[in-house]
Amino acid sequence: MRSQPATYGHWEQLDGMPSLGRYTMDLDARHLTQYWRRCSLSSNFWSRYMALWIPTPPAPGHLRRDAMEHILSYLLNELFENCAKFSGGPFQRIAYAAWVHEERMVFELTNHVQPAAQAPFAALIEEMLTGDLDELYFQRLEASAESNAPGSGLGYLTLMKDYGIRFGFRFSAITNASIAVGVQAHVALKEW
Ligand SMILES: Nc1ncnc2c1ncn2[C@@H]1O[C@H](COP(=O)(O)OP(=O)(O)OP(=O)(O)O)[C@@H](O)[C@H]1O
Ligand SMILES: [Mg+2]
Repeated sequence: MRSQPATYGHWEQLDGMPSLGRYTMDLDARHLTQYWRRCSLSSNFWSRYMALWIPTPPAPGHLRRDAMEHILSYLLNELFENCAKFSGGPFQRIAYAAWVHEERMVFELTNHVQPAAQAPFAALIEEMLTGDLDELYFQRLEASAESNAPGSGLGYLTLMKDYGIRFGFRFSAITNASIAVGVQAHVALKEW
């Protein structure tokens, strides 16, 4: 029997719940790494598409359409790139899903990793969700300046710290050789 998924942070089961709009797209991680600009193309497309939900002028106290597009483009590029960079194991499918609600949009990207990748990522997630964001950010900045590691490890921290995005994470075992990693980003439509 498969074990229960492990969730962290702000994870919600959104499929099957009422929403104003729901969108999905499937990609292959290998196709993203083959042409890296597929990450930015996908994020630009979806950020523009989703920002059209924001009325002009915006409701009082809410983000403007151009601000929303900017935030989403940055967020989605980060999420698509992470899927491309960190997918591993036999499954290379990447699933994009998004939901529009009255006061927020939620984006969920799913990729797959080898089982050995779960524990270190989960430890990092727990640190990000419980630690002081400013402190972690500067620690990470210093560490990345001193190392040759490919990622700087600042992606999620920047999105939480500077854009107020709330994250949820879910690990689900698919087979003995594969774990599905779900990353959910909750973006408030109000200015913060
Ligand atoms: N979708 C994912 N699947 C598997 N592991 C992930 C995923 N996203 C992030 N990780 C792990 O979490 C770490 C932190 O991710 P984050 O996006 O914050 O930084 P980064 O991608 O390493 O660097 P940067 O985003 O600053 O270029 C990654 O280095 C990776 O180990
Ligand atoms: Mg990243």
